[in-house]
Amino acid sequence: MLVPATEMLQKAVRGHYAVGQFNINNLEWTKAILLTAQENNSPVILGVSEGAGKYMAGYKTVVGMVNGMLEEQKITVPVALHLDHGSYEGAIKCVEAGFSSVMFDGSHYPIDENVAKTTELVKLCHEKGVSIEAEVGSIGGEEDGVVGAGEIADPNECKAIADLGVDFLAAGIGNIHGKYPENWKGLDFDALAKTKELIGDLPLVLHGGTGIPENMIKTAISLGVAKINVNTECQLSFQEATRKYIEEGKDRQGKGYDPRKLLAPGFEAIKATVKEKMELFGSVNKA
Ligand code: 13P
Repeated sequence: MLVPATEMLQKAVRGHYAVGQFNINNLEWTKAILLTAQENNSPVILGVSEGAGKYMAGYKTVVGMVNGMLEEQKITVPVALHLDHGSYEGAIKCVEAGFSSVMFDGSHYPIDENVAKTTELVKLCHEKGVSIEAEVGSIGGEEDGVVGAGEIADPNECKAIADLGVDFLAAGIGNIHGKYPENWKGLDFDALAKTKELIGDLPLVLHGGTGIPENMIKTAISLGVAKINVNTECQLSFQEATRKYIEEGKDRQGKGYDPRKLLAPGFEAIKATVKEKMELFGSVNKA
């Protein structure tokens, strides 16, 4: 059964580790992440962006697939199904479809509007037993070749949004989605520490988990980060393994064209990446 992410993240704050949010794109991705969580006795959060939700034939399809898999694959570790970077409308749709957690990304709105919309969604989510993440300070990234540095969230704005009753909070601290550029300045731990001081034990979320050096991940966790989002790294592992299979001509040997064979190396590669992250984040045996 899907669970909201609140309890697993509060436990992570107390235990000084982080739970990984791994974004899913299809059945193979979902199965790889769920089986790895079960094998490592780790709680896990499945992230679904609005684009990935559309790709997977809609939120209800995703809910059906994940719930079916939890039952058929006998997954007993805590699993949350979470909308990643949701719009106001997307968050409502996911609550209705049966997601157990949503993120409302109001970071691009003026703070007053972010506050108003977050307030409404907190009420709706909590009435339905769904956890909610909010964001302050937009997460940068590479778009059309332009690399934007991640914004640093204002700790006072973080406090204002935290006080609305959200269950966990993403604060921009120079993190970005996708690969980090050569000249990246690193995470701003002063800003993180100031935010932590103001918000207390509310779990903090670190987006853009791909490519952040291990020592920075560990420092972030020590400063209250309890959820780390990873997406691109699984995509890169899948891509490399699939490329190797085809470059070695395996798709042309015997029934190597069978999608169940063709996608198997990528599936195993995702599993290896997820396991590595769970070990780094400290969530192994924390189910
Ligand atoms: P990466 O793709 O950089 O790992 O970021 C994932 C993320 O933050 C999803 O919200």
